[in-house]
Amino acid sequence: MKIYADTANIEEIKNIAAMGLLDGVTTNPSLVAKEKGEFKEIMANICEAVNGPVHAEPVSLEAGPMEKESRELAEIHKNIVVKIPMIPTGLAVCKKLSQDDIPVNITLVFNATQALLCAKTGAAYVTPFLGRLDDISNIGVEMLSDIIQIYENYAFETEILAASLRHPVHVLEAALAGADIATIPAKVFHQLFKHPLTDRGIEAFLSDWEKAKK
Ligand code: G3P
Repeated sequence: MKIYADTANIEEIKNIAAMGLLDGVTTNPSLVAKEKGEFKEIMANICEAVNGPVHAEPVSLEAGPMEKESRELAEIHKNIVVKIPMIPTGLAVCKKLSQDDIPVNITLVFNATQALLCAKTGAAYVTPFLGRLDDISNIGVEMLSDIIQIYENYAFETEILAASLRHPVHVLEAALAGADIATIPAKVFHQLFKHPLTDRGIEAFLSDWEKAKK
């Protein structure tokens, strides 16, 4: 499973990249709004720090402006993936951009039939949101598993990018289900390393070592 950082914060991104565990980055307008600076400059800086796809989301919802904004974003860097919401104009723009070899990620996907349509438009990625379904007492991982089953049934090449991952169990669920990619907030990423028995084991090893040396 590829691991992406779900953030527009350059320090968080560099920190994870330095561990050699970063395969890409996803952003969205809410994440970018948290950062200082101009949108394209933020995205260009992220592209310089990441050896992999960097997903940038236009905010236009009309087809013409959305396509124009998407093409401008794609011009920023060869690693830019354009991230477009799951709406009819979004799928139409996705089809046009994909035909020009501009990779598109369709985001804000909340059921398997939406994901089916995304694959048929030639989207390079589809982004189902697990956490926001769990928030309303749905079961996000079941939706993810349905998408994975449908994509296997028809050998769709669209990569499944599990998002809205609020805690380590969401990452576990995405991996067990077979998502191609998990995009993980920095806080959750760092939680993945932690286990109290690991900490206790290290303490015991060092304590026994010190005793033996004396
Ligand atoms: O990339 C999508 C992700 O940022 C959404 O996460 O926690 O706002 O549902 P969340």
